[in-house]
Amino acid sequence: MSQHRIDELLSVFGLLRRSAYRIVQYCVLAIGLAAMMAMTIPDLGARSATWLAVTLWCCLGFFAAELTIKSWPRAGAKAAPRYLLSGPGLIDLLAVLPIPLALLFGAPTGTAWLLASLWLLKLAPVVPGLSLLGRVIEQEARPLASVFVIFLIVLLLSAVALHLLERAGQPERFGSVPRSLWWAVTTLTTTGYGDAVPETFLGRMIAALVMICGLGVFGLWTGILATGFAAEHRRREFVQNWDLVTSVPFLRNLDAPSVIELTRMLRRLDLAGHTVVVRRGRPGDCMYFIASGEVEVRLEPQPVRLGAGAFFGEFALLDGGPRTATVVTTMPSTLLILEVSDFRSFTAHHPELAQTIETEAARRKSAEGRPRHGHATAPAIPGKRHR
Ligand code: CMP
Repeated sequence: MSQHRIDELLSVFGLLRRSAYRIVQYCVLAIGLAAMMAMTIPDLGARSATWLAVTLWCCLGFFAAELTIKSWPRAGAKAAPRYLLSGPGLIDLLAVLPIPLALLFGAPTGTAWLLASLWLLKLAPVVPGLSLLGRVIEQEARPLASVFVIFLIVLLLSAVALHLLERAGQPERFGSVPRSLWWAVTTLTTTGYGDAVPETFLGRMIAALVMICGLGVFGLWTGILATGFAAEHRRREFVQNWDLVTSVPFLRNLDAPSVIELTRMLRRLDLAGHTVVVRRGRPGDCMYFIASGEVEVRLEPQPVRLGAGAFFGEFALLDGGPRTATVVTTMPSTLLILEVSDFRSFTAHHPELAQTIETEAARRKSAEGRPRHGHATAPAIPGKRHR
């Protein structure tokens, strides 16, 4: 078996192993949380107490073993104290320590196991949106804080006003400012439990105003967070795409303004191994650059493999015809997609790139039918600065 095939099998096996571990982790988490919740149901908790306790202890054992393995000193990994002080390390500690400690300090079993809800924190590091949310809140802290101050002002002013207007008629609900604050919070957040309702005309007018302010305040917060998310997402995508674009040798030769222009145009596509990227006979509206991984162009009598740095899908863009071959990834690969409209405008400004792609397309077409050996290499753009 060739070294290439062995590498491919190892990468698939590594991916399977990581995926299997994640699935087991999620199953343990789901079973543990279900057992914790079942314990709080009086009938079920009493009848199946032993089974539920065994399940919970097994889950805790799993998380303890995970913590031990991850913090075990080994070459190339973070030292144990450093791991335990990192975000994921602290989460692993929180999943394991509080329950035995609570039991040790004499908390009732049912109460101690409620701390199993902390196991949910284990999902935090694998949810990319959470780190994004943290970054957005950090970036938009000032506008968010300004809206929060408006919220507080409306809250306090309306609570004081309602206290003034309603305290005589409803002393139990508006008799003090803290009591009125409860009404103000439920009204400003447009929750409106209906347990405290102003009865005077003026009081109702203020309530209407507070509700409208509430909608405005939450609209502002939503707008700030939404634009923050979009901007951060664009920033991250740009940085990732920049790295990918400059990792493609064929594109690396472009000057910085062109790389910026292309980075904005290219869309990243992460694919698992053995995924069909383009299918022979289908219309083509984009071409692909291989940032990492490898694809196989299924040609007769012998397929051609294209590695990182190469491109494909250009025939359809150059002659407007259907795809001439099916292209499949042979391993997990990252591709960069250039849509036909962007291809046209970019190559119009960069004739040297158009020339290189056309020359390579012509070479590929003339190579059809000739015996092929090994990998196809990526062409370089002539006459450009090399960073
Ligand atoms: P397109 O026809 O759009 O879609 C299939 C792609 O396979 C094609 O563009 C080329 O990019 C690629 N391809 C076709 N023939 C060859 C070849 N001989 N060597 C390398 N790539 C090829």
